[in-house]
Amino acid sequence: MTDLAYVNGSFVKMNDASVSIKDRGLLFGDGVYEVAGIFRGELIDNHAHLERLKRSLKEINLNLPIDFVELVELQRKLIALNNIEEGTFYLHVTRGVSETRDFEFPKIQQPSLVMFVQHKKIMDIPMDKLKAKVLTYPDLRWKRRDIKSIALLAQVLAKEIAHQAGCDEVWMHEAGFVTEGGSSNAFIIIGNRLVSRKNNESILSGITRQAVLKLIEQEGLVFEERPFTIEEAYEASEAFYTSASVFVMPVISIDKKIIGNGEPGSLTLKLRNLYENFAKSFINQSQR
Ligand code: PDD
Repeated sequence: MTDLAYVNGSFVKMNDASVSIKDRGLLFGDGVYEVAGIFRGELIDNHAHLERLKRSLKEINLNLPIDFVELVELQRKLIALNNIEEGTFYLHVTRGVSETRDFEFPKIQQPSLVMFVQHKKIMDIPMDKLKAKVLTYPDLRWKRRDIKSIALLAQVLAKEIAHQAGCDEVWMHEAGFVTEGGSSNAFIIIGNRLVSRKNNESILSGITRQAVLKLIEQEGLVFEERPFTIEEAYEASEAFYTSASVFVMPVISIDKKIIGNGEPGSLTLKLRNLYENFAKSFINQSQR
């Protein structure tokens, strides 16, 4: 099996892949990224991920160094070269190298594109791995969380604190309301109501969230689009979070308080199942 990354026009061995120390991504976190799932060698919901990438790029006045048709071809090539069946696809675009470390944009911008894949089991996860513990923590991020920025220090620190506390994910909060997970969107279920906050600048518009919301009617759930408090989350009948790398992850405790009966919620598991089927619908797509 090969282990190749893509860096600005070349496929290179992962261990030899490098960027300049003057890359603005490294110096300023000046760039945006995407993560998509891979199953049976196919990208899951890639079109939606690339639409969000386009938006993130536009919001920071950055251009992709190649066109999107070429990008998709390179993504497929990287998957094929690595012979990866199941895992995640990471890509980022930074404002590239500038001669001097100045905050202002360089006069001539040469954006840098980096991509790599990672093996990870994302489908048919055993039940004992579908029991996430969550810790709540203040949301210390900037105010444009709708941009999928590579500047992730607040999430790195918050997720580490959760990890140290024996938890799998952090739910960040602001003014008493949960914003979102450290790297996921947060949901609670109260009766037949699915509660999650509205997409705006205070959270990332999750691609998995978007897909899951199209599936909830099949389970008789009604979407209540509003922020929820930490206390409401403690009292919820079920809770879960979504992302491209964990799909729909049931939450069994929040701040050590047991959610529901302490087992993955039945509606949550049904949603996970529906989402897995949706993810499988991308199999053989590139051959169509
Ligand atoms: N993170 N909110 C935040 C802050 C995230 O970082 C992510 C994803 C999501 C969920 O978005 P999506 O459903 O499109 O994956 C929400 C990725 C997985 C990461 O940083 O690894």
